[in-house]
Amino acid sequence: MSRVAFVTGGTRGIGRAISARLRAAGYKVAAGYAGNEVAANAAATELGLFVVKGNVSSFADCATAVKTVEAELGNIDVLVNNAGITRDAVLHRMTEAQWNEVIHVNLASIFNMTRNVIEGMRERNYGRIVNISSINGQKGQIGQTNYSAAKAGMIGFSKALAQENAKKGITVNTICPGYIDTEMVSAVPKAVLDQIIAGIPVGRLGMADEIARCVAFLAAEDAGFITGATLTANGGQYISG
Ligand code: CAA
Repeated sequence: MSRVAFVTGGTRGIGRAISARLRAAGYKVAAGYAGNEVAANAAATELGLFVVKGNVSSFADCATAVKTVEAELGNIDVLVNNAGITRDAVLHRMTEAQWNEVIHVNLASIFNMTRNVIEGMRERNYGRIVNISSINGQKGQIGQTNYSAAKAGMIGFSKALAQENAKKGITVNTICPGYIDTEMVSAVPKAVLDQIIAGIPVGRLGMADEIARCVAFLAAEDAGFITGATLTANGGQYISG
C-alpha cells in the first residue's frame, strides 16, 4: 500500500522537488498550490501529482483541501508544510500588510494544515510531519523580520508538536534550507545575492533536490526515532549547535 503525502506549495520551487522525490519513492502525492495554474498543471502532468488549489492562510481552505485529498488518494500519512512567501523590507519601512501576509502564509498555515490532519494521524498511530523553515529563522536576516519571525516560529511549533505526538507514531521535524536556486531567491537584488553567495562556504546556491532528499529521509517509515529535530542544509553558511 502506498503512503499518501500532501506537500503544500508543492508545484513550484523546493516544493515541486519534494513532490517529485516523494513520487519517485512510491508515495501518492497531493500538491497544494495557491494560484499558478500553469505550474500546477505542468507538475500534475509531468510528475503524476494530484493538485489541489487553496490558500494555506485560510483554515477553511485547508480543511477542504485535506478532505478532497483524502477522498481522492486516501488518508494523509505525510504532511510537508512547505508553502511560503517573502515580503522583504526593513522594519522601519515594512507595512502592516507585509507583516501580516508573511505571518499568515508562512506560520499560521502550519496550524491550519496540521490541525486538519493530526487527529487522523493520532487515530491511525502513524504520521510524518516535516516543516520547511529557513536559515533565516535560525540566524535572522536584514529585511526579513516578518519571514525570520515566521520561520523561527515553525521551529518552536515543531518541537512542541513532536513531544505531544511522540507516543502516537508521529514524528515532527524541521528542515532549515539555506539559499536555494529558486524563483524566491532570484528575486533578491543581484548585488545583495552575490554578497550572500560569497558567504556560503561551499561557494554556490543549494539545489531544490538537495532539500527534497532531506524530506524523503525524514518522511520514511524507518525514521521513527527522529523527532523534534532541526536539519540544516545551507552549504555551511550558518552552523548552529
Ligand atoms: N547592514 C545594516 N543596515 C543595512 C544593511 C546591512 N547590511 N543593508 C541595508 N541596510 C539598511 C540601510 O542602511 C537602509 O537604512 P536607512 O533606511 O536607515 O537608510 C535600509 O536598510 C534600507 O536599505 P536600502 O535602501 O539599501 O535597501 P532597500 O530598502 O531597497 O532593501 C532589503 C533592503 C529589503 C534588506 C534588500 O537589501 C533585500 O532584499 N535584501 C535581501 C534580503 C534577503 O536575503 N532575503 C532572502 C529572500 S530568499 C528567502 O527568504 C529564502 C530563504 O529562506 C533563504
